[in-house]
Amino acid sequence: MSLQSTFAIIKPDAVSDGNTGKIIAAIEENGFRIAAMKKIHLSQAQAGGFYAVHKERPFFGELVEFMTEGPVVCMILEKEDAIKAWRDLMGATNPEQAAEGTLRKLYGANIGRNATHGSDAEDTAAFETAFFFSNLEHC
Ligand code: CMP
Repeated sequence: MSLQSTFAIIKPDAVSDGNTGKIIAAIEENGFRIAAMKKIHLSQAQAGGFYAVHKERPFFGELVEFMTEGPVVCMILEKEDAIKAWRDLMGATNPEQAAEGTLRKLYGANIGRNATHGSDAEDTAAFETAFFFSNLEHC
């Protein structure tokens, strides 16, 4: 597998709990290169647009409310096989089912408030990266 990039979010729960630094440290300790990073407070329209693929799901309203309750930290991460590597470091979507030592186990509370997000495939990584970053912001 060659060098790949993925898109990551430190969600509002982890930011407000003061876990941003610990999550960034784990990212670097696990060999990712942070190619871009920004902290923003999403509007409801922005959060809804980002998660548009889930708009018919029953939890969509709750998801948008949560993602707009405070700032998030967005990143582009680079590593060999980055999409899978970042998902492995995050752990299962539901922190109750996540493996010990994973970020969602350590810092998430439940399936809705689960501390981090990561792209699940190359096409979603491309969409999500372009949603938050221009080409000028990668370095
Ligand atoms: P994420 O990886 O950001 O992608 C979509 C998010 O929807 C997911 O993490 C969860 O936080 C959230 N989600 C998925 N299923 C549910 C659910 N049943 N109830 C509430 N939120 C959910």
